[in-house]
Amino acid sequence: MRIHNNKETSHLQQPNHRRHLRKKPLLLSSFLLLITISLTACGGGTQQQSAQLEGPADAVEVYKNSCLACHAADLSGKMGPETNLTTIGDRLTKEQIVTIIKEGKGRMPTQSGRVSDEDAEKVAAWLATKKEQAK
Ligand code: HEC
Repeated sequence: MRIHNNKETSHLQQPNHRRHLRKKPLLLSSFLLLITISLTACGGGTQQQSAQLEGPADAVEVYKNSCLACHAADLSGKMGPETNLTTIGDRLTKEQIVTIIKEGKGRMPTQSGRVSDEDAEKVAAWLATKKEQAK
């Protein structure tokens, strides 16, 4: 009988013990959630950029500041197929791209107020290397 009693006492102590443990998974999961969020935030960004935005730092910088909003972080375009620049070098020369930046084209407004001639040359030279074969 004594042994049985002893077991019961240890059972009674368990709920207290468990309550203490239960807090940990909560803390742990919110910590893991934070890590997951920050990893996906950074990982997603670098993956997208390393895929297509590889090139001279200054040209990529111009693209990020002045073109990315409409042409997307991976050059795939945000405003329909005409804004896809992933293989733009197959269709346009550097000079033609400079002209589009300066004068605009269709729904694309001129960028000359925001992009200097020098920057237009840089980003156009880089974009002109975006060809199907180069991928
Ligand atoms: C306000 C949004 C916007 C910005 C900013 C913008 N573009 Fe565009 N771009 C467009 C749109 C929309 C088109 C499609 C034009 C059309 O055919 O109607 C386009 C088309 C182009 C084309 C021609 C694509 C083709 O297949 O003929 C090139 C090249 C281009 N943009 C380069 C750039 C560069 C380089 C920059 C940054 C200096 C830039 N664009 C900034 C919206 C934009």
